[in-house]
Amino acid sequence: MTASDHGARSVDIRPAVDADAPALAALLAHLGYPADAAELPDRLRRLREAGDDAFVADVDGATVGLATVHSRAVLHVARPVAQLTALVVPPEMRGRGVGRALVDAAERWGRAHGADRLVVTTALHRADAPLFYERLGFEHTGRRYVRKFS
Ligand SMILES: CC(C)(COP(=O)(O)OP(=O)(O)OC[C@H]1O[C@@H](n2cnc3c(N)ncnc32)[C@H](O)[C@@H]1OP(=O)(O)O)[C@@H](O)C(=O)NCCC(=O)NCCS
Repeated sequence: MTASDHGARSVDIRPAVDADAPALAALLAHLGYPADAAELPDRLRRLREAGDDAFVADVDGATVGLATVHSRAVLHVARPVAQLTALVVPPEMRGRGVGRALVDAAERWGRAHGADRLVVTTALHRADAPLFYERLGFEHTGRRYVRKFS
């Protein structure tokens, strides 16, 4: 879909496919959400049925990054809101522009869906993520609260 160069290596961003399931399971484990690879094609299908999408990043033929993107129609503003949910690059591939390429792809996807902003929430235990997002031009504008259903 898109390619960006960072140093000598090209980062190719493309929609995730069912055959990526083992790589997606490994990436989700790095994010702290271990998943059975066998379940992932069905999750991908449901994501896309909802109008959302999942992108992966390939470097030198290996799948080394994941971003999931959502577009929500809301009542309080006219344009849909694009949201980045899962974003992860394995530790050994960080710092090479893969995360930036995935966020840029998410922004392009959001623009194509009519959104005028990309939002992301990040867990407090992710100490480095705020620095990454701020480096990419995100502003820290809110807080996230979770009430789990018992
Ligand atoms: C956050 C994450 C996706 C960044 O991916 P990445 O491929 O390492 O990021 P990039 O190499 O594209 O970095 C983009 C820019 O952010 C900066 N950056 C990245 N991580 C940073 C950090 N921890 N502190 C400060 N700056 C950072 C880079 O220096 C780079 O700046 P530059 O382009 O001006 O040189 C990756 O570190 C990761 O998967 N972390 C664990 C999971 C996570 O926290 N995900 C976010 C969930 S909300």
